[in-house]
Amino acid sequence: MNITIIGGGYVGLVSAVCFADMGHFVTCIENNPKKHTLLQSKEVPFFEPELSEKLSHVCNADRLTIAPGFTDNDFNADVIILAVGTPMSDSGEADLTYLFNAVKDIIATAKGADFERVVLTTKSTVPVGTGRKINAMIQEAQLSDKILVASNPEFLREGSAVYDFFHPDRIIIGTDSTTVFETFKQLYKGLHKDTRPIVHVSLETAELSKYAANTFLATKISFINELAILCDQLGADIKQTAKLMGLDGRIGKYFLNPSPGYGGSCFPKDTHALQSIGKHQDVHLNVVSAAISANDHQIHYCISQLKTLLHGTVADKTVTILGTSFKPNTDDIRESASLKLIDALLSDGANIQFTDPKAIDNTMALYGSKVTPFSSSYNAAENSDAIVLMTEWNAFRSLDLPRLKRVMNQANFIDFRLIYSHDELSSAGFNSYILGKGHHRVPQNVSSLN
Ligand code: UGA
Repeated sequence: MNITIIGGGYVGLVSAVCFADMGHFVTCIENNPKKHTLLQSKEVPFFEPELSEKLSHVCNADRLTIAPGFTDNDFNADVIILAVGTPMSDSGEADLTYLFNAVKDIIATAKGADFERVVLTTKSTVPVGTGRKINAMIQEAQLSDKILVASNPEFLREGSAVYDFFHPDRIIIGTDSTTVFETFKQLYKGLHKDTRPIVHVSLETAELSKYAANTFLATKISFINELAILCDQLGADIKQTAKLMGLDGRIGKYFLNPSPGYGGSCFPKDTHALQSIGKHQDVHLNVVSAAISANDHQIHYCISQLKTLLHGTVADKTVTILGTSFKPNTDDIRESASLKLIDALLSDGANIQFTDPKAIDNTMALYGSKVTPFSSSYNAAENSDAIVLMTEWNAFRSLDLPRLKRVMNQANFIDFRLIYSHDELSSAGFNSYILGKGHHRVPQNVSSLN
């Protein structure tokens, strides 16, 4: 099939490359000149496992074309996919400027074009009702027999987006038309298995289902993060508690890993957007509001534990941060808890040394000389007063703890991702704090042996 994807960002590019990899012929439109040039030279502007190799492969096979703008040729497509950014506006709502501009552009071009019929679908996360608004614009332009609107939300995780594309838990198609649903069945034919249902629902249900899924996952994280704080007080173990909860099939084991708070370009944005959607309908979503405020609080709680380990203050202390990306396997630092930590430490007068396997450039672009980057954990730990493990990259899972301790000024280790145990940290001579497992100080005589 022929597909045109508008937007060569995260969702658009991954979808374009993966649809082309399935054998479809794809045009991906990116109107940002810098990104367009990069993509044309087969370079991915961000880090995502497997994407670079697949981009080269599908471009070389002439199944993916990168274009700077929408033209009437794009009406040869069976499906036009809207995958432009929908960032959070100041009010917490999704900003749909890019999306509606793209729709206006399509309508303007359609008026002079000769084509029979095309499906126009959203893939970006959009507020409930957006599909109807697009429909109204198309009706007003008297194009509703030629442009058929649908919603096909994506569920790709950064860091495993290519894998997720080919192994979806479900494919959701929101449309009023069974013919349009049949088009999507063809589009995903190479992928679709009985165990991975492709579901036909209304536009509204499709749009809501995306916010519902992201917000529910965010709520699970906020729940376990609050329990981690409680565990610190009770002397219970959050890792074991989460594991025991997850063994109950009704709860499920995923998204129960305590953390310094969820980040990224999706959960913070989508939880706020769902809250706004509720407000517009006069429905106060209490659980959603609580999940948001628990997440806002989480980093403050984590910072207070760091200060406790450092006897009350971080002023003039050197703190080493392991991981600035919002999760492993990405260079994305948007809404990362590490940024909130860096901001708080800088305003309290700490010196910051950090390392990250992929996000050093993005972090330096934001902070410049205010922070000091290192390519290895051991160099980043030199003369430091505390190590803070913020992102659970594999590179941080098997650290040589005694070697780290030897280069530090003070042996303090804070683990906000529960990679290490107090036992292993303390046998390496570290005073430690582990989220949801409390503080542990090495007795003076043991410390002096290391
Ligand atoms: C999320 C969803 O998981 C995807 O299904 C969705 O398609 C995507 O948003 C989107 O809307 O585009 P993503 O933001 O890439 O994907 O990453 P996640 O793996 O969901 O992690 C989000 C945040 O939650 C990260 O900061 C992560 O560290 C945190 N997290 C995750 C926890 O703190 N604990 C957990 O147990 C899991």
